Amino acid sequence: MGVSRAAAAKPALVEGISAKARLHVVTGKGGTGKTTVAAALALALAETGRKVLLAEVESRQAMAQLFDTPAMPYQEQRLTGTANGGELFGLAIDPEQAMIDYLEMFYGLKRSARGLRKMGAVDFVTTLAPGLRDVLLTGKVKEATVRTADGSPYYDAVVLDAPPTGRIARFLDATQEVAKLTKFGPIAKQSEGVIALLHGAKTRVHLVTLLEEMPVQETLDAAAELASLGFRLGSVVVNRARPTLIGPDQIGADGQVDLQLLAAGLREARLPDGHAPALAAEMAEYAQRQRVQHENAERLDALDLPRVELPDLNPPVQLGELKDLAARFLADGERS
Ligand SMILES: Nc1ncnc2c1ncn2[C@@H]1O[C@H](COP(=O)(O)OP(=O)(O)OP(=O)(O)O)[C@@H](O)[C@H]1O
Ligand SMILES: [Mg+2]
Repeated sequence: MGVSRAAAAKPALVEGISAKARLHVVTGKGGTGKTTVAAALALALAETGRKVLLAEVESRQAMAQLFDTPAMPYQEQRLTGTANGGELFGLAIDPEQAMIDYLEMFYGLKRSARGLRKMGAVDFVTTLAPGLRDVLLTGKVKEATVRTADGSPYYDAVVLDAPPTGRIARFLDATQEVAKLTKFGPIAKQSEGVIALLHGAKTRVHLVTLLEEMPVQETLDAAAELASLGFRLGSVVVNRARPTLIGPDQIGADGQVDLQLLAAGLREARLPDGHAPALAAEMAEYAQRQRVQHENAERLDALDLPRVELPDLNPPVQLGELKDLAARFLADGERS
């Protein structure tokens, strides 16, 4: 494994990120930060000295923006390297190209790809039959995960920026559905391999959430659904967590700040006490948000899963901030 490739320091991963997992699936409610978290996790894995592939399946080109590279072609592209020999590659998986690969791999049909496109077969599979589309996408993810070169794994880890929680179970089990139709032949065999990998010990599904009502509900629902289907959950990634800035003695039972006290405090700090009302309003608002965060964090206790907390930064997150987020997936990351 690439883990022993160079002599430079190799940090360990936090508890929620299994060092043995080869495929990390990152899902969550739309907009909670799946792409950002997948990229940060991939970068963290590279920082442990691994050779990592970050794959996306929704054709958003979100990764290209994050890493400030041109739009990604359907080809693995090196995004960055680390001092200890770790490497990060990116791939935007395109269903049409995945289909062409597939036919070539199993039926030697390379030359007929154009014919298929003419017949509308590519359109049918990639747009009209969403189940088949997902089969092609997960099939490509499996190929990259189990690929070998000279007898050893080509990638030490693959991180998938996956579809949102509402679609994740169907996406991951699309092959299971289609496999029911094909019992024999190369496709049936390939299907078994995909199902075995996705449900197996080398795969972990991580759930990204914000500490808000709806994302937490979707996280709880998805965790139950995925577990019941036999997928292995890794961690809950609490994204955009805000620090606790207001203590219980700074806010009244009514949720308001004592103006007199605040004005006195400002004077003591040699600041104009005229700011007290505006500051009090902001404090009350922040305290309210803190309460909501706290309540939602408690709801997540229902899940017996390790949690990784990422701070709320100034969006949009770029490569520099991504490194700070990546550090949270590494042991002792918070200190660095
Ligand atoms: N920890 C963070 N701090 C600040 N901004 C963040 C953080 N995480 C994500 N963002 C910002 O939030 C926005 C949404 O993030 P991202 O694209 O990763 O979410 P997503 O779940 O992948 O969205 P979609 O469902 O559209 O794919 C982006 O502008 C991103 O820069
Ligand atoms: Mg995204």
